[in-house]
Amino acid sequence: MSHCYAVASGKGGVGKSTVTANLAAALAQAGNRVVIVDADIGLRSQDALLGMENRIVYDLIDLANGDCSADQAVLESEAISSLYLLPAAQFARAKNLDPKKLTKIISTLRSAYDYVFIDCPAGIERGLRNVLNAGADEVLLVVTPDDISVRSAERVVQVMEAKKLSRPCLIVNRLDVDLIRSHEMMSARTVAEVMDLSLLGEIPEDTVVSRAMLRHSLFIAYDCEARNAVLRIASRLRGGSPAFPMYGCKKQSFLQRIFSRSVKEVIPLDDH
Ligand SMILES: Nc1ncnc2c1ncn2[C@@H]1O[C@H](COP(=O)(O)OP(=O)(O)OP(=O)(O)O)[C@@H](O)[C@H]1O
Ligand SMILES: [Mg+2]
Repeated sequence: MSHCYAVASGKGGVGKSTVTANLAAALAQAGNRVVIVDADIGLRSQDALLGMENRIVYDLIDLANGDCSADQAVLESEAISSLYLLPAAQFARAKNLDPKKLTKIISTLRSAYDYVFIDCPAGIERGLRNVLNAGADEVLLVVTPDDISVRSAERVVQVMEAKKLSRPCLIVNRLDVDLIRSHEMMSARTVAEVMDLSLLGEIPEDTVVSRAMLRHSLFIAYDCEARNAVLRIASRLRGGSPAFPMYGCKKQSFLQRIFSRSVKEVIPLDDH
């Protein structure tokens, strides 16, 4: 049976595309046929994340318009077998994609792949609404643990409620263990409670993420904490139940508390 997940957020830049690429790759490495549909029309990124940016001939809009076949538009990863990408158009807008055609494309892909991931554009405008109507089984809502990201993600939940879609699962990204410990950042569990959503995954802030991106490679290729976090999410999507590490929530030793970082306020500008 095929599974289709739309990966969305309210605010942009919270890590949707990065998480989608690495999660899809993890599932492909586990032996599944996985395709990513980059639905961020005009601002595509999956091609670069997957190192396929020089191979694109056709894209999602070409396929929707009947200018190519799915076989021509969908690219196979050279680095990870069983991982495929349907790239977004770079010079088009969400309004150029007929929502009915998108739904049809998703349904066709579902019959050929074990997992279909749709990387959504940020925000609650037409681009997201088209994907929400396209028949995904579940929305994975990515947030960072700050009020602005959470508040804008709540708008996505409201849009989904208006469409009578089931509640999304939550992935909290870029958690900083030290900031959670010093009560300056919400833990993943707190974010899930505030939003009243079930927690699918928690991913820490990890410098390997940007180092991998600079090399146009995926962070799951490196032994790092973000990789462990994504592998746990992949396992949960496959029905496993690995424990949540609950970053920043474990008790610290006396010495750890003494040496934990604290931030001092700078002198207000008016005093200069
Ligand atoms: N866990 C993490 N640790 C460190 N950096 C991260 C992490 N997750 C994402 N990033 C960085 O955050 C930036 C934004 O990521 P990404 O492009 O995936 O976000 P997005 O939500 O898809 O953005 P957009 O809304 O513009 O599509 C990238 O530079 C990425 O490397
Ligand atoms: Mg993105």
